[in-house]
Amino acid sequence: MEIFIDTANIDEIRQANDWGILDGVTTNPSLVAKEKDKGKDFKAIVKEICELVHGDISAEVVATRYEAIMHEARILAKIHKNVVVKVPLTPDGLKAVKTLKAEGTRTNVTLCFSANQALLAAKAGAYIISPFVGRLDDAGHDGMEIIEEIREIYDNYKFDTKILVASVRNPLHVKQAALIGADIATIPFKVLEQLYKHPLTDAGLKQFLDDWAKLGQQIK
Ligand code: E4P
Repeated sequence: MEIFIDTANIDEIRQANDWGILDGVTTNPSLVAKEKDKGKDFKAIVKEICELVHGDISAEVVATRYEAIMHEARILAKIHKNVVVKVPLTPDGLKAVKTLKAEGTRTNVTLCFSANQALLAAKAGAYIISPFVGRLDDAGHDGMEIIEEIREIYDNYKFDTKILVASVRNPLHVKQAALIGADIATIPFKVLEQLYKHPLTDAGLKQFLDDWAKLGQQIK
């Protein structure tokens, strides 16, 4: 499973990239708006991320009508060859996905909350579908259930649209995504850090170092 970081924060992206486990980055308008430097041009942020991480970088349109989505998508796609244009799961959005595919631009269809929506996105030619598991959980559903359903539907019909598990809130979401066979999970920085953590790792390391110190040797 590919691991993406779900943030527009350059420091977080740089740190996660240094760990050597990062395959890509997803951003959305809310994540961009959360950053301190509000005056910084969105295209400049996307360019900076593309130069840091050599993988798929999702950048989202904010238009909702077909023509306007196409206009913004073409601008975003020109920033870097690794840009994947994020488009909302609406009739206009999926119409744009089809045109963008014909133009050679890859898309990430966002705000997916059902298996039927994911079926439509795949038929339109989406490169990535982003079902939001955390927001479904928040609304009283089982978010991971739709990941299982989408996996089954895509496998049934050999759709090559990648399933990206979005709105990840905890390490359990990541494990379940990998067990189901999702292609990608996009993970907030805090959850990425949690993935490394286990109390037995910390306790075991302390024990090894304490025992070694008694030897009074160095590895030279
Ligand atoms: C990423 O592509 C999504 O926009 C993001 O995971 C949504 O996460 P949230 O539900 O925590 O805002």
